[in-house]
Amino acid sequence: MSNNPINIQDAYNEWSQTYDSDKNATRDLDQVVIRRVLGEFRFESIIEIGCGSGKNTVFLSQLGGRVSAFDFSEGMLTKAKEKLGKIPNVIFSVADITKPWPCAEQSANLVTCNLVLEHVEELSVVFSEAARTLVNGGWFFICELHPFRQYQGIVANYYNGDQIIQIPAFVHHISDFLGVAQKSSFVLKQLQEWWREKDQGKPPRLVSFLFEKTVK
Ligand SMILES: C[S@@+](CC[C@H](N)C(=O)[O-])C[C@H]1O[C@@H](n2cnc3c(N)ncnc32)[C@H](O)[C@@H]1O
Repeated sequence: MSNNPINIQDAYNEWSQTYDSDKNATRDLDQVVIRRVLGEFRFESIIEIGCGSGKNTVFLSQLGGRVSAFDFSEGMLTKAKEKLGKIPNVIFSVADITKPWPCAEQSANLVTCNLVLEHVEELSVVFSEAARTLVNGGWFFICELHPFRQYQGIVANYYNGDQIIQIPAFVHHISDFLGVAQKSSFVLKQLQEWWREKDQGKPPRLVSFLFEKTVK
């Protein structure tokens, strides 16, 4: 275990080399969750924040007329571009989700965010940018490591050789998500907790929220 905290962006640039091929039950369950929650819907325009190596971007490109996907790790984006090849309805860009997003006001019907917010200390910027970029009635879908697992000290991590690298993470309670959503004019449509089949009886691994932007 390393004692030196690593910068989040550097960590994901490094992890990008093995993110897709590593064993990772949380990543795999998230892929199931987004399909279960959103699979039967279609959207004209989607923004995916923290798209990483494009694990969910492929699926979103089938749900949406246009997908704008961004991440602050160039390494992860390189992998995403390799994976999506020349899919014409996806545009990737490098951007930090805690700064103003490279997206116009009211330009999206859906914003998605999977396994990213544990790395963001202050949720309010992300919610206010989601509110700015969504049309009225648009949806904000979030799937994150369940805080119950964060309380056990679990954070995103990967191996660099035989060293485990733990990526800096911030605990967000369920009430933090609900509180900031309400302040940013979202209403909760659905909250679900998710387990792998073989984890029944243990604390949930993931939590997902589906929020709807209300008209002010
Ligand atoms: C665990 S990966 C998840 C990637 C993808 N969403 C998925 O589900 O496979 C977390 C991603 O969030 C990105 N990330 C973390 N903080 C970010 C920030 N402030 N701005 C943009 N991307 C960020 C990382 O670079 C990384 O690609």
